[in-house]
Amino acid sequence: MPESPGKPPEFDLKLAEVAAWVGTGPDGIGQGVPDAAEEELLEIEGDDPARALRQTLGMFATGVTVITTKVGDEVHGMTANAFMSVSLEPPLVLISVDRRTKMCSLLYEGRRYGVSVLATDQRELSDRFAGRVADGGAAPAFDLVHETPVVDGSAAQFVAKVAKSYWGGDHSLFLGRVEYACYDENARPLLFHGGQYGDLASGAELA
Ligand SMILES: Cc1cc2nc3c(=O)[nH]c(=O)nc-3n(C[C@H](O)[C@H](O)[C@H](O)COP(=O)(O)O)c2cc1C
Repeated sequence: MPESPGKPPEFDLKLAEVAAWVGTGPDGIGQGVPDAAEEELLEIEGDDPARALRQTLGMFATGVTVITTKVGDEVHGMTANAFMSVSLEPPLVLISVDRRTKMCSLLYEGRRYGVSVLATDQRELSDRFAGRVADGGAAPAFDLVHETPVVDGSAAQFVAKVAKSYWGGDHSLFLGRVEYACYDENARPLLFHGGQYGDLASGAELA
């Protein structure tokens, strides 16, 4: 097989070699989901482990996005902070969506979703698309890119096509190949930390 240009040699393995390596690889590589006995090994302080885990995870400060998709003429949006960049080449992003949400029932491999990174003045939109406030007030405006809605005036916008979906416990993970990306360099991003919204304090970068 010809060598693929630009690919580091460790990725250029023949399938048989990969199979052999997985068999002897580090713990967890090539293995399935943990069984019930392993799940009980969660070590965490406090009487309410689920709450303590949520609070601990909340120490990870994030931005806030609205995930959007369009079914017929209807736009559906859902607030999400579980968004991450995965790869530049190919361009990939990942979102984690609660399986009980309407959004989860609308996404599948081949479908497109929009990701709008909210700005500090779009906090109400975050509450609205998290189902925290009843519909009302001015309707949010969307731009359509590749037939996919993105929130007008947001700090950054992506359109991605679901390349793969994965089991993620009570969430589903949707790996998307980015087809469109743009940002407003003057926007200030809305932050989320410890269950509260935040703003970049001074805009100053740490030395
Ligand atoms: C700041 C914030 C971040 C959130 N992040 C996520 C997330 O990453 N994934 C998720 O499934 N739900 C997340 N939620 C909750 C959903 O927005 C909420 O369950 C929403 O009502 C689901 O909408 P749907 O069922 O209409 O699709 C978040 C809520 C807030 C306020």
